[in-house]
Amino acid sequence: MFNSKHLYLIVGYVLILVRRMPSSKVTVSLIKADVGSLCGHHVVHPKQLEVARRSLEEAKRNGLIIDYYAFNCGDDLELLMTHKKGENSPEIHGLAWNTFKEVVAKVSRPFKLYAAGQDLLIETFSGNVKGMGPGVAEMEIEERPSEPIIVLAADKTEPGAWNYPLYKMFASPDNTAGLVIDPSMHEGFIFRVMDVVDGKYVDLSCPEEIYTLVGLLGTPGKYVVERVFRKADKAIAAVASTTRLNLIAGRYVGKDDPVLIVRAQHGFPAVGEVLAPFGYPHLVAGWMRGSHNGPLMPVSLRNARCTFFDGPPRVVALGFQLANGELIGLSGSEPADLFDDPAFDLARKTAMKVADYMRRMGEFMPARLEPEELEYTTLPKILDKLKDRFKSL
Ligand code: F6R
Ligand code: MG
Ligand code: MG
Repeated sequence: MFNSKHLYLIVGYVLILVRRMPSSKVTVSLIKADVGSLCGHHVVHPKQLEVARRSLEEAKRNGLIIDYYAFNCGDDLELLMTHKKGENSPEIHGLAWNTFKEVVAKVSRPFKLYAAGQDLLIETFSGNVKGMGPGVAEMEIEERPSEPIIVLAADKTEPGAWNYPLYKMFASPDNTAGLVIDPSMHEGFIFRVMDVVDGKYVDLSCPEEIYTLVGLLGTPGKYVVERVFRKADKAIAAVASTTRLNLIAGRYVGKDDPVLIVRAQHGFPAVGEVLAPFGYPHLVAGWMRGSHNGPLMPVSLRNARCTFFDGPPRVVALGFQLANGELIGLSGSEPADLFDDPAFDLARKTAMKVADYMRRMGEFMPARLEPEELEYTTLPKILDKLKDRFKSL
């Protein structure tokens, strides 16, 4: 006789089958860390990239990931991976962690590269690299019939550096014509804003809450955009890394050179609308000793290496087409190097003019960051030394 036990069994089997069915979704994971570099904090060594590529190639052969692209922005090693494991997968995070460890062991240490293993703050992997040092941006998406994505990475700055360009891309009709012209974008976007100091987040719906959004994003050391959704269908439009190493470590460990993934075209900002905000090299926190305001300079991969006063802070933008999780680039998986273009020469020139202007102020604010941003450096020690010498007025 058919009874409730049979019903439970059938439901159980169906659930197991559904779970086993391959998800139609694909996850794009960008995990990065500074694991040591050549000539101070200048650039990742080619051997480090070689070891990282070998490790990811093996994971691709074993079927753990669909595709990958390993690159660097200055002294940061960036691992871009596509797979079916979803966000926060211990297997994918473990792969990134082990790859970083291997690069340190096989190249950074034997070559005595500078600050070997800098961003690997904790010894033992706990299943998720968030909070362990590396920066992470991940999005699980339903791949569209054609899926252009742009991967951005910056050196010598912090996650709040994306606040201004993300606001321009997804909330400013002056930047993104699609907000006005394209009916599928006209409703606007939702910004998920993290309070990275107090560990909270809030979703703000634009255009209605633009003034509130700008109120928060104008303080990029505390409020940072983590994600943007299209309001009409809640589709993920962009994801950024939000780690603040200093807050994790409780001491100065450099800035948290951030990464960002943006979906483009057909209901999202066009590629040109994603890139346009970088035509204005806005001021970001970071630069020398993570303690100065400087212009964010858009550069090609070849020029993603800081020099002048350890800067100016740089950003690269790489374009891919996703095809069933595969990262289609120009030749093989080499992406379109989107800032490798004379169209950004003016921004680079302006950035250098601004860099020169800012440096003339030396260690006076606002060229140097405010004391709260310096709390993990020498300032408390200076104040401590002087505490008995301060007399009451
Ligand atoms: C900033 C950065 C560099 C270093 C600077 C001093 O994020 O990485 O500007 O802060 O070169 O580095 P140390 O203290 O390692 O000599
Ligand atoms: Mg470094
Ligand atoms: Mg760096």
